[in-house]
Amino acid sequence: MTPPNVTKLAYKTLQQGKSLAGLAHKGLSTKLMEIMAPGAMPSTNPIPPDLLLELKRSMTALEQVDWLEAEQGLYPKSQLFEAPWIEWAIRYPLIWLDLPSTWRRRQARRFQDLPKQIDQEIYPNYYLQNFHHQTDGYLSDHSAELYDLQVEILFNGTADSMRRRVLAPLKRGLKKFKSRRPGNIRVLDIATGTGRTLQQIQGAIPNVELLGIDLSQSYLREATRYLNHKRKGLAQLIRANAEELPFASNSMQGVTCVFLLHELPREARKNVLNEAFRVLEPGGVMILADSIQIADSPQFSYLLENFPKIFHEPFYRDYINDDIESRLMSSGFLGVTAESHFMTRVWNATKPLD
Ligand SMILES: C[S@@+](CC[C@H](N)C(=O)[O-])C[C@H]1O[C@@H](n2cnc3c(N)ncnc32)[C@H](O)[C@@H]1O
Repeated sequence: MTPPNVTKLAYKTLQQGKSLAGLAHKGLSTKLMEIMAPGAMPSTNPIPPDLLLELKRSMTALEQVDWLEAEQGLYPKSQLFEAPWIEWAIRYPLIWLDLPSTWRRRQARRFQDLPKQIDQEIYPNYYLQNFHHQTDGYLSDHSAELYDLQVEILFNGTADSMRRRVLAPLKRGLKKFKSRRPGNIRVLDIATGTGRTLQQIQGAIPNVELLGIDLSQSYLREATRYLNHKRKGLAQLIRANAEELPFASNSMQGVTCVFLLHELPREARKNVLNEAFRVLEPGGVMILADSIQIADSPQFSYLLENFPKIFHEPFYRDYINDDIESRLMSSGFLGVTAESHFMTRVWNATKPLD
C-alpha cells in the first residue's frame, strides 16, 4: 500500500499541475485572442495582488478539505485522481481548434448561434443561448465532449474538488434512511450535465439508486458513457426540464443540483427549488452547489462582477445578488445552512417531516 504522505504529495502535485496548466492555457489563449480577434475581449482591470493572494489562500483551503474528507473515508482517495485523462489529452487540441469560432461569436456578440437541426420548441427560451460563448450552447455532442475539460481549465483544476463538497452533507443527510434496504434510497442530480457529480456519488455512497436529469441529450449521452460502463451500478438518465421534474412527489431521499442556478432567470430558479422540494420525501435532503455570491464573499466581488463581462452568462449578475437561503425557505425547506469552498457555495436544506 502507498504510504499516506506519498499519496498526499501526489495529490498536491496533481492539483498544482492542473492549476498551472489552467493558468498557462488561459494566458496563452487570451494573448492569441488579442492578436487574432482584437475587440473580442472586454477591457477589465488586472487582478489586484492582494486579491490574487486571497484566491490562492482559498484554493489551498479547498485542497485541504478535499484531502481531509478523503482521509476521513467520506469518499475513496482514488477519487482525487480520477478523470478521463486519455480522453482529455485527445480532446485538448479540439479546444484550441474551437477557439476561433468562440472569438467570432464574442466579437459579433452573437449569443444564439445554435445548431440548425435542433427543435427549439422543446426548450425554454432562456436555454437557447451560447452560455460561456460555448459552441452550439449545450446542444451538440461536440459541446458535450469539450465541456468537462473547459470547466477544469476555467477553475484551474478545482472543478471536481468543488463538486465533491456536496458529498459530506449528502451522506450525513441520508443517514436517517440507513435502515432501508439497498436500492430503496434514491438520489436525483438535477442538471447533471456530463454526470460528474453522479460519478462522485456513485464512488462515495454505494447502494443508492442514482438518477439524473438534464435538458441536453448530448450531455446525457456523455454522462451515460461515464456512468454506465463500469460494473459499479447504473444511473437512470432522463431528458427533462428541471422546472417540471418527471418524478412522483416524495419519491427521492436526496437531491443534488450543481452549477445550474446561475444559468437560470429568477422565475426558473424558484420553480427548480419548488420541484426539488416536491420530489423529496419528508426528511429528505437537498444539497445545492453554485457560484459564491456577493453577500457571502464580498472579498471576491471584483471577480464576480467581471465574470459575466468576460463570459456570456446572461443571468449571473442577477444570481450573485439573489438570496438563495430565503428562496429555499420559501419553497418549504428547513434547517438551511451554507458554506463556501473557493468559488462555490454549498447549501444544505431539509424537507421537514409532516
Ligand atoms: C453549467 S452546466 C452544469 C452541469 C453539471 N451539473 C456540472 O456540475 O458540470 C449547466 C447544466 O444545466 C443544464 N440545464 C440548464 N437549464 C436546465 C433546465 N431548465 N432543466 C434541466 N437542465 C438544465 C444544461 O444542459 C447543463 O448541462
